Amino acid sequence: MTKVVVVYHSGYGHTEVQAKAVARGAEKVDGTEVQLFNSEDAQQNWDALNAADAIIFGSPTYMGSASAQFKAFMDASSGIWYNRGWKDKVAAGFTTSASQSGDKLNTIVQLAIFAAQHGMIWVGNDLLPGNNSSSGSVNDLNRLGGFLGALAQANSDQGPDVAPLQSDLLTAEHLGERVASITKKLRS
Ligand SMILES: Cc1cc2nc3c(=O)[nH]c(=O)nc-3n(C[C@H](O)[C@H](O)[C@H](O)COP(=O)(O)O)c2cc1C
Repeated sequence: MTKVVVVYHSGYGHTEVQAKAVARGAEKVDGTEVQLFNSEDAQQNWDALNAADAIIFGSPTYMGSASAQFKAFMDASSGIWYNRGWKDKVAAGFTTSASQSGDKLNTIVQLAIFAAQHGMIWVGNDLLPGNNSSSGSVNDLNRLGGFLGALAQANSDQGPDVAPLQSDLLTAEHLGERVASITKKLRS
């Protein structure tokens, strides 16, 4: 059994929808057990994270970086960092912001550096960028054109029932599936 944990923070529900899509994608891979924790609950469930083969991190982009709540989780993991508890686990990341860019690449870079500090193995997004040609559309997977993780954009006046777009959720799902499938290969 491959164990994948998804840890996220979401102030208003958009990143939570994205996190659930990542989890759905990971569940598609046979023999994968997926657990989803918000970043506060994760701090009460370190055993589950320590037992995971892969941990996928997600945060909304607030002020061009991870939210304070997600950063609290990152900082609380420093004891595990010291003991190299997550070394060689697979890692990946995702984020939602309101603007098309919104400086959200910085959040993904922050998550990737966090994983690197833990000695984890970062898995990026392999989907070619969509929505970047005259025949492209917002319905394309990876419509925001990022390779380091799964990116989503949610209009600031829309709730998580309609935003982010389905294309962003399918992109997140794809990342979850990719992480689970690569983790399974690494374990075999
Ligand atoms: C404190 C705060 C800071 C934000 N900063 C950014 C930002 O830097 N770039 C951006 O595009 N959107 C920004 N937003 C918008 C959020 O990224 C957006 O609403 C996102 O969908 C929130 O995700 P959540 O519902 O999971 O909390 C900010 C929102 C808040 C509350």
